Amino acid sequence: MKANDAERRVLSGMRPTGRLHLGHYHGVLRNWVKLQHEFECFFFVADWHALTTHYGESQEIEQNVWDTVIDWLAAGVNPGSATLFIQSRVPEHAELHLLLSMITPLGWLERVPSYKDQQAKLKEKDLTTYGFLGYPLLQSADILVYRAGKVPVGADQVAHVELTREVARRFNFVYGREPGFEDAAEAAIRRMGKKSQRLYNELRKRYLEQGDGEAISRARALLADQQNLSLADRERLTGYLEGGGRLLLPEPESLLTESPKVPGLDGEKMSKSYNNTITLREEPDAVEQKIRTMKTDPARARRSDPGNPEHCPVWSLHKLYSDEDTRDWVVEGCTTAGIGCIDCKRPVIDAIQQELATMRQRAKQYEEQPDLVKAIISEGSEHARDHAKDTLEVVRSAMGLGYR
Ligand code: TRP
Ligand code: SF4
Repeated sequence: MKANDAERRVLSGMRPTGRLHLGHYHGVLRNWVKLQHEFECFFFVADWHALTTHYGESQEIEQNVWDTVIDWLAAGVNPGSATLFIQSRVPEHAELHLLLSMITPLGWLERVPSYKDQQAKLKEKDLTTYGFLGYPLLQSADILVYRAGKVPVGADQVAHVELTREVARRFNFVYGREPGFEDAAEAAIRRMGKKSQRLYNELRKRYLEQGDGEAISRARALLADQQNLSLADRERLTGYLEGGGRLLLPEPESLLTESPKVPGLDGEKMSKSYNNTITLREEPDAVEQKIRTMKTDPARARRSDPGNPEHCPVWSLHKLYSDEDTRDWVVEGCTTAGIGCIDCKRPVIDAIQQELATMRQRAKQYEEQPDLVKAIISEGSEHARDHAKDTLEVVRSAMGLGYR
């Protein structure tokens, strides 16, 4: 892997919770579909993460995994552009999790907000387990095992990416300072061509003495171009640039997805646990029925009562799906009782039907060919595993576990 590839690599995961709905589509999948054209993307089903809270219902995970994958494909995540895989098919996630656990203080995990929050929220489950405490560290391993620089997540996951940065920093500090690091770095410099040696030294000096940001980017690009450097040397030289030890695991950053609020049928946030969803594979009749009976501004008890779109969840759907003219028509018609709620819902129903038609069709194709879905995942898992194995070699050897 080239020293600056982390910048271009995106990784994200999703727990398999069953069929996905419009909330997932607008909150997550639409963004993935866009990112897959701009970055080298790895998207995976976090089945081990599902086990941390659902260890008692593990029989349900399998169906949920395939439903999740089919819904990704239906939404337009493309296995030709992104690598799609399942966490448990890449056991290196577990190995890295274990190795990182050795240097992760308990306090760091206990302090992650989701730890106490989820325990309080899922009171019916016993989450005082070792696995659940380790949830965010497993997530760190997921990210670091691909040396991914960018992690698209919702606001609730930012603390997990922050933990990942701290763990990476600690790992680099503890294991990046091999004995004789400077000598090894100097020897690595001499393994580059004469011109590159001179340029590297000059850029490094400019960065270390003057904090010149352009110099360090140029130096990183120079290293990325060196064909005859080993991975280990490349890391040494990247770390040496910044004056520290080897950069073993790059610190990732979150790509915070600004996700529009998708209201459920009852006006609460759309969520499976509220039973208020429209799924991506919802049949047309069900879509029609669900939105026709969707909650509106309670002020409009009768057709002749005026209402206020700001008090109505259907209005949030108009913000997602309707153009300005339609929205003007809604505001005017609602506040003057010029239109009824069923009239108002019509353009939203039509837009959702159109959006879901493509997805339903793609999903059907994959439902009819489960072997094709499995082949996509097998191929993706193998590709992911190749990258994960490379990282583990670096990690093991830095820790002194390189013997075989
Ligand atoms: N914890 C994430 C969630 O609940 C899922 C996840 C697991 C993930 N591993 C990850 C997300 C790695 C981003 C990167 O949504
Ligand atoms: Fe909601 Fe439209 Fe009815 Fe107004 S007219 S309450 S915006 S559904």
